[in-house]
Amino acid sequence: MTASALFWDRIAKRYSKSPVSNKKVYERKLEITKSYLSPESEILELGCGTGSTALYHSPFVKHITAIDISKNMLDIAQQKAADANITNISFKQSTIDDFNAPDGSYDMVMAHSILHLLPNKAHAIKKAYNLLKPGGVFVSSTFCGRGKVKLLRPFLALGAFFGLLPKISFFSPESLQMSIKDAGFRLDHVWLPENSDALFVVALKPSH
Ligand SMILES: C[S@@+](CC[C@H](N)C(=O)[O-])C[C@H]1O[C@@H](n2cnc3c(N)ncnc32)[C@H](O)[C@@H]1O
Repeated sequence: MTASALFWDRIAKRYSKSPVSNKKVYERKLEITKSYLSPESEILELGCGTGSTALYHSPFVKHITAIDISKNMLDIAQQKAADANITNISFKQSTIDDFNAPDGSYDMVMAHSILHLLPNKAHAIKKAYNLLKPGGVFVSSTFCGRGKVKLLRPFLALGAFFGLLPKISFFSPESLQMSIKDAGFRLDHVWLPENSDALFVVALKPSH
């Protein structure tokens, strides 16, 4: 098992109980995402955690495949889906790198609070691009460490070294937008809420 999987397994219960940091902003992001969905939508969520976002969108789409590296996160997600009688989400333990599906399988790929945890965000964004159908939608809310948070970098690195924190890649909102465009997407909606370090992006794969 990788250090990353161990870390997320260890904190899964605590993570599931922690409140959303800015509920209004989160709800707005859900609403914007929902406006791109249809009852026929096939969705892939990368790094789904305890499944809250997938569970929210499930009534409005055909099917969601939700993957995560952590079995404990997925166990909680699965229990939440069962409790809510939701049957159109398939939870699957997999890293983003190992996940396999034919190119052009999905109408939407979501990647929330995950790109900054990967050694190579561009690789994951390109994978999302390939997995999307022409005209498909990539949606991501991603921590882009700016300002004061940057000062904490040495402490965060130390925490990651001792396995107390996940390894975090620092990049700017501009760099993230550039990576998304470089993969071939067109940015359709970009929002950096006030007092937030999480850039919300909706990007479209060209339809031809
Ligand atoms: C910060 S949590 C975000 C969870 C969820 N997307 C959310 O917004 O609440 C990051 C999640 O990504 C998962 N994860 C980390 N590295 C991963 C990888 N390489 N492949 C798949 N999942 C990964 C972790 O297990 C964890 O559940």
